Amino acid sequence: MNRLFALHGRQSSLVIEQAASGLVWRHWGARLPDAIAAGPGLESGRPVPTFSLDVPVPFTLVPTFGLGWYGQSALLAHRAGRDFAQGLADCSALQQGQRLSCRLHDAVAGIAILVEILLDPATDVAQITTSVANIGDGVIDLQWLAAATLPLPAQPLAVRHFTGRHTNEFAEQTDTLGHGIWLRENRHGITSHGHVPGAVVLGPGCSDSAGPAWGAQLAWSGNHRQLIERLDDGRSQWQLGGWLAPGEVRLAPGERHDSPAVLACFSPDGLGGVARNFHGAVRQRAGARPGPRPVLINSWEGFYFDHDPVRMMALADAAAAIGVERFVLDDGWFAGRDDDRTSLGDWFVDARKYPAGLKPLADHVRGLGMEFGLWVEPEMVSPDSDLFRAHPDWALQLAGRPLATARNQLVLDLTRADVTDHLFARLSALVADLGVAYLKWDHNRDLAPAGDAAGRPAYGRQVAACWALMDRLRAAFPGLEIESCAGGGGRIDAGMAVRAQRFWASDCIDARLRIGLQRGFLQFLPPEMMGAHIGAERCHTSGRRFSLPFQALVAMQGHLGLEFDLTRLDAGERARLAGWIAFYKDHRHLLHGGAVWTGTAGDGVAWHAAGGDDDWLLIVYRTDMMLQRHAAPLLLPFIGDGDWQVAEVRPGETRAATRFSGDWLRSAGLPLPPGQPDTATAWRLQRG
Ligand code: DGJ
Repeated sequence: MNRLFALHGRQSSLVIEQAASGLVWRHWGARLPDAIAAGPGLESGRPVPTFSLDVPVPFTLVPTFGLGWYGQSALLAHRAGRDFAQGLADCSALQQGQRLSCRLHDAVAGIAILVEILLDPATDVAQITTSVANIGDGVIDLQWLAAATLPLPAQPLAVRHFTGRHTNEFAEQTDTLGHGIWLRENRHGITSHGHVPGAVVLGPGCSDSAGPAWGAQLAWSGNHRQLIERLDDGRSQWQLGGWLAPGEVRLAPGERHDSPAVLACFSPDGLGGVARNFHGAVRQRAGARPGPRPVLINSWEGFYFDHDPVRMMALADAAAAIGVERFVLDDGWFAGRDDDRTSLGDWFVDARKYPAGLKPLADHVRGLGMEFGLWVEPEMVSPDSDLFRAHPDWALQLAGRPLATARNQLVLDLTRADVTDHLFARLSALVADLGVAYLKWDHNRDLAPAGDAAGRPAYGRQVAACWALMDRLRAAFPGLEIESCAGGGGRIDAGMAVRAQRFWASDCIDARLRIGLQRGFLQFLPPEMMGAHIGAERCHTSGRRFSLPFQALVAMQGHLGLEFDLTRLDAGERARLAGWIAFYKDHRHLLHGGAVWTGTAGDGVAWHAAGGDDDWLLIVYRTDMMLQRHAAPLLLPFIGDGDWQVAEVRPGETRAATRFSGDWLRSAGLPLPPGQPDTATAWRLQRG
């Protein structure tokens, strides 16, 4: 029998066999006993199918093209047209606890590969990275390197994935997987609004809360590619990696290319189980957890470019009076920025709008007990800016090609050290001089074309340089928080989650749209990182109108903010808003940092529960007109055994509790009141 390497989590196991033909995938799925009895090796005694190589090539950790593997290759590379075929049977694996380091070697093609797999037993999430090194003579052109190639079982499978666009991100899709290839590619240069770099594969009977589900996401803020392909034995392979432009990675002898990390997990608890596993892993990777997520006010939809220190101070006064804890000054504060046609790059305060600078406003905000936050878009430059006039060569461009603007702006070439040094100096000065606690870091366009000074594609290096700039800034200002925004949700991924503490999930605050959009976000990243705002009664992007309670209970799913001109509210409206802010503060220990369960229940009902063990907040939304004359009871699969006190909660009011058994709530359900579309109700459920 060949050697088996097994990594076990709480609910999952991952098994690789070291065979003569290489490191062969045997299992990724349900938890197996610690001592695995797997019989003989996969290939021993296996008959060779007709019309096959006499020694067929099995499904390995890094299946490669050219020597008899006919599926998608995990590596596509060549050396001036030669060494196009790679065989990685020469390999070894070293297991140290939960880490498996696999070295694969092809002396003929001059390629060495290292695959590192680290399975965290607490979350069941495996972090997988792959590096390829040129150990031969001559340059290697790398066309594709899968960061991970994962096995999926021979069962009927479907894939849940997400599409979208600016103002409508995380639109849920489900495709049945059959023969052939399911493929998603993103070439926008940033994570993108429409191509979420991950998916969940659903096994038979998989639902929101039960059944086998396999999840994977790429921790990368740039171009990416993922594919699922049915193999000859009925299993499928799932590859994820950075998408590379032609010529983007060329390795000189001795050089190495490292893939981004893939986070992958199996859960027997359906889509929700995968989401909760990912939340745990992303929290861990982010390191030190920030404290309670402060309620913020953002100036954008209330004021756009129309800045006036007196009105901003009045906004701060109104915000502080109702319990807001962070004030974020959005776009429009810097020299000459009256609309989106100019001034990006000139990160100096506009003396026309703020004759005394921003310090008085920042001090005023702090004097009210709030943190001061500032919007920036560091990677951008407007052609009409002092920065571009001084350094026209600092923009990403291709000689002989037109400068392609988007929202009237160009992208700075962050692969240049003089550019990132300049940005670091400017941002540091702003943070230090104004006492900025929070940067909303925006990125309002895709990358096209991303050519560096040498005419080479700079896509991946641009991402790495942006991450490095953020890391450098956070190292210089350890308390500084960053919100990642790219026209809303254009740069939301687990790689950015290591440096950003919040994501602006979408430029669309429409509460009805947000229910599905936020559910998509929560499939991959935890609720405390999801920026969710209460906006004006009439949503600016959709034109639809929503009540305050509905907006508040939708925004409550994430990190709560406000984004409209509060100074226009009358005393009653302010009091009602203050009530919802107090409600959020009373429940944020349940809403953030714990477990999240979500689901839909038919007849226009969607629900969100957050908390854990003995204490939950449940929010039930109605998104449609009821078709039934009576509401069906809602089954609560997250509820544990024992007795539960269930009370409807509203700002400043907890209704009389009703006692239910856990069995009853799971199996017969919580009776729901009837309701109109675009309304929501919240319950507190406490064991005892
Ligand atoms: C796009 C962002 O998503 C908005 O919230 C706002 O910050 C604007 N950019 C400012 O230009």
